[in-house]
Amino acid sequence: MTDDVGTSASISIGDRTLDLEVLSASLGSDALDISKLRASLNTVTYDPGFANTASTRSSITYIDGGEGTLRHRGYAIDDLAEKCTFLEVAYLLLYGELPNREQLDEWTTSVRHHTLLSEEMKRFFDAFPRSAHPMAILSSATNAISTFYEAYYDPKSSDAFHESAVRLIAKMPTIAAWAYKKSISQPYMYPRNDLTYIENFLHMMFGMPVEETKVDPVIARALNVLLILHADHGQNCSTATVRFVGSSDANLFASVAAGMNALWGPLHGGANQAVVEMLSAIHDDPTMTVERAVTRAKDGDDPFRLMGFGHRVYKNYDPRARILKKFADDVLSRVGLDDPLLEIANQLEMAAREDDYFVSRNLYPNVDFYSGIIFRALGFPTRMFTVLFAMGRLPGWIANWKEMHDDPATRIARPRQVYEGTVMRDYVPITER
Ligand code: SDX
Repeated sequence: MTDDVGTSASISIGDRTLDLEVLSASLGSDALDISKLRASLNTVTYDPGFANTASTRSSITYIDGGEGTLRHRGYAIDDLAEKCTFLEVAYLLLYGELPNREQLDEWTTSVRHHTLLSEEMKRFFDAFPRSAHPMAILSSATNAISTFYEAYYDPKSSDAFHESAVRLIAKMPTIAAWAYKKSISQPYMYPRNDLTYIENFLHMMFGMPVEETKVDPVIARALNVLLILHADHGQNCSTATVRFVGSSDANLFASVAAGMNALWGPLHGGANQAVVEMLSAIHDDPTMTVERAVTRAKDGDDPFRLMGFGHRVYKNYDPRARILKKFADDVLSRVGLDDPLLEIANQLEMAAREDDYFVSRNLYPNVDFYSGIIFRALGFPTRMFTVLFAMGRLPGWIANWKEMHDDPATRIARPRQVYEGTVMRDYVPITER
């Protein structure tokens, strides 16, 4: 709770005043409740990027942008990444508590028994060109599988929510892997019930029907950490999208598909792909050095940005990037890969951290800066990186959708606007235009 807002506030416009209730946060900024502002003073607030606006109350994730800390349901991301499985963290996000042994076994078994896609879905994948971006397939397939589960559309039913959540979390690795197999014209691999969630995904991604799949436990462990680090992150662009779409009582599948499309943007989840493309350009193009990249990033007239740097909330080192940076060396040495892009990334970070342009704007590496290098070391093609981000973020989207439905105040989101258009004019027939 911040003590600089105090317990009372008011807005005065001319001779009219509205007293505002102050909502006290358990951590971070308190909030001024302006829900009566338009009715009382016929005025709205203007905050185009919502940087100063809380769209909801939430108990799921807390981010301290100044300190660079991240907690899910009160647990530090460092502890969760080091000590939990991804499904354990997914359960924590959805239901608010870390599961006990019985709950985790039931949850894991339930997910394991719903990893198959309906056979009709094969023709769905076949309809895409080989060149289709896997994010387009992922969001389309997420909507498509919902047609098999109309019984679970009711947003007011907790049973329907649970069944939808299990199917989304269970089937996302299968959809992602089949999108990849489609792109390389290889046979789709069926999930196996004798493998863990992460092992199963790696089996479907890199296995072949002609031989037994051998999953490297180090790669499985690395991917487990990567998915946990992406699991939730407050009211980011894609999560706010899921809440917005869900607030119309659209079903969970449709809301998540919308979030996937928001995540795809290179300023958001698409940044990990853009980071590796930027590092590769520096590596491959002799005219594009680290120094040149930093210079271009600082030039306001040049659209080039240092992808993987900066954040809407973190004005300190993204704690996820800090974990990933330590992790990158371990994973690359374990898989025996000496990736020159990691060295370029380290040089870029050092150059930016010593440059006043970045220091004065609090621009630090974010989660996407190192994640792409590790995804690449684990054998994933660049175009699959945002798909991996979406797989990680899925429980966060689902948890936020549920929290939105549990709070009647956040139903049918409908922001206002500041209209600046023409006031009024008469119709002009086309013969006179
Ligand atoms: C994610 O919201 C979330 O939580 C997102 C996420 C999650 O887990 O869901 O954390 C995941 O989306 C991480 C961000 C990935 N995107 C990128 O790495 C793309 C590159 N980053 C930038 O586009 C930018 O930093 C943003 C969009 C991420 C954040 O922008 P901000 O904090 O709103 O900062 P800004 O755009 O207002 O910029 C402030 C200044 C500007 O310069 P001035 O106008 O002051 O001269 O910093 C500059 C910007 O031009 N700036 C950069 C820069 N990022 C900001 N300059 C060069 N390179 C950059 N990367």
